[in-house]
Amino acid sequence: MTIAQLQQEIIKLKKEKDVCILAHSYQAREILEVADFTGDSYKLSVDAAGVENSSIIMCGVRFMAETCKILSPEKRVFMPNPLAGCAMADQMDKKFVEELRNNYPEYTIVAYVNTTAALKTVCDVCVTSSSAVEICKKIKNDKIIFIPDCNLGAFVASQIPEKEFKLLSGGCPIHASVTVEDVKRARELYPNAELLVHPECLPEVSAMADYAGSTSGIMSYAQKSDKKEFIIGTEISIAEHLQYMCPDKSFRTLTTKLICPDMKATTLVDLYNCLKGEAGEEIELDADTIRDARKCIDEMIRLG
Ligand code: 13P
Ligand code: SF4
Repeated sequence: MTIAQLQQEIIKLKKEKDVCILAHSYQAREILEVADFTGDSYKLSVDAAGVENSSIIMCGVRFMAETCKILSPEKRVFMPNPLAGCAMADQMDKKFVEELRNNYPEYTIVAYVNTTAALKTVCDVCVTSSSAVEICKKIKNDKIIFIPDCNLGAFVASQIPEKEFKLLSGGCPIHASVTVEDVKRARELYPNAELLVHPECLPEVSAMADYAGSTSGIMSYAQKSDKKEFIIGTEISIAEHLQYMCPDKSFRTLTTKLICPDMKATTLVDLYNCLKGEAGEEIELDADTIRDARKCIDEMIRLG
């Protein structure tokens, strides 16, 4: 089957089986084209909360599928490729956060949504990269522990100097692999381009950018800007998608290290096979985990 034929079959099957397909912006173009909702992790959380179909297939990574299940426990939620994890999400566990809570009872614990469902059960509020600054500003407490990404945490802290942030060592190994040397090389190659980076990059890299912000922030900045050339410092797929969206502009990748193997794990064939019931994994979470993790996701949507 060609890609177009596969897409036709997927569109037919999702209607027949009453399935809603959600796809994160880092997914391949052919997957985004058959999805009902696309966007960054915050937008997908809000979209997932309003889905009316009986089943959801999340094309992204495991924590995103878990978030869908937590928000819609009565629905069946699937991920087409169970191997699509997130190298950051498993860095801290529930026990570690419970110890933090005991050691620092006066702090509000803010967890990046890129964490496991189990960890979310013991945090106060979740954030995504596009909502982190706004939510941390709105939290009543001036003392915040931000986990697990110390780079995003440092970025948020720099925007809210009046609050005290405690950061721990964790983060996205893909974004954190970008160096100052990579930025200098890209600037030399494309001296007229604006540099847009995700704040999961090291603080010294974000500091060199013309704009630092979430996936959706980078995309809307590039679309609205009068500039014609951009260096994109986030997962490589975003430069490709922007090039399709804005054919009159040029998008360069900051470095080819910015490839997330987990986000690339799901293919159109996986999605097709998942719809046919021949591949993928159904997300199963126990009722206590769903109830407790939901509090901090609901709080994210309320404050975001
Ligand atoms: P967003 O929160 O910008 O969607 O990013 C998710 C992610 O995994 C970034 O690496
Ligand atoms: Fe996780 Fe990083 Fe991949 Fe995003 S890019 S899914 S944070 S490993």
